[in-house]
Amino acid sequence: MGWKEIWARKGQAAGKLASLSDLIVADGFDSGLGKIEPRHWTKMVMNAAERLNLRTHERICEVGCGAGAFLYPLYCSGFLDLSGLDYSAPHIGQARRMIPSGNFVVGEAAHLPFRTGFFDAGICNGVFLYFPSLEYADAAVRELARSLRDGGRSLILDVNDASRRRDFETRRRDALGADEYDRLYRDAPQLFIERQWWCLNSDRWGVELEIYDQRVEGYGNSEFRYNVLLRRKSGCDSPSAVPPKGRGGSVSDA
Ligand SMILES: C[S@@+](CC[C@H](N)C(=O)[O-])C[C@H]1O[C@@H](n2cnc3c(N)ncnc32)[C@H](O)[C@@H]1O
Repeated sequence: MGWKEIWARKGQAAGKLASLSDLIVADGFDSGLGKIEPRHWTKMVMNAAERLNLRTHERICEVGCGAGAFLYPLYCSGFLDLSGLDYSAPHIGQARRMIPSGNFVVGEAAHLPFRTGFFDAGICNGVFLYFPSLEYADAAVRELARSLRDGGRSLILDVNDASRRRDFETRRRDALGADEYDRLYRDAPQLFIERQWWCLNSDRWGVELEIYDQRVEGYGNSEFRYNVLLRRKSGCDSPSAVPPKGRGGSVSDA
């Protein structure tokens, strides 16, 4: 079973959601190294909002929004114009129920159904690791950049660091036990990306980048992950689709 089916099943199994805790569970941040407590979650979201310098009236989109765990604290803090896209229809249904004023669509991160320059800001949290290849990741960054206005910002959070891959896999195998680890990840590998890959391709995407370590309290994955803040440069053409530079990363062979 691949990630797309795993997420759709998780969304179906989630039942009726009523709180931020429920959303965090539905979006998969509820077990093992990946568990995040609601108070740490809210702090993480607000730190990201600060990094992005988000204003409550701005048009904001989350790619791979799941059931809306990331957008929900923003909604509760008075953010007025929230959109989200996810390839799991059950998750999108949950997001619509929890954030009734939001605009939620089912779709693929590599083909965003939004107009060029439409958003002031974008978010993508805990999603790049589920992409099938670096080529897909490249298309997703291009789409994210394309959908931002000139000067628009986007934060891609929770990217698997290729240079920490071995340590991460060892830690997770130890935590789960070898049998459970193989059962869970044999058919659903994760994508790891070199930090350098982003820098090599930023001009082609028409963006400026800042990469920084992830430090989310109580989140065991944090030490193996990083975040990427990007800003769409003014006066650039739509991000170009020529092949990405650099090998960049790898898909785990778990
Ligand atoms: C770990 S959850 C994160 C959800 C949300 N971003 C959050 O922070 O709560 C990963 C989400 O990414 C979605 N996803 C993974 N790959 C995707 C893709 N290629 N296109 C759209 N959604 C995707 C999954 O369906 C799932 O809802």
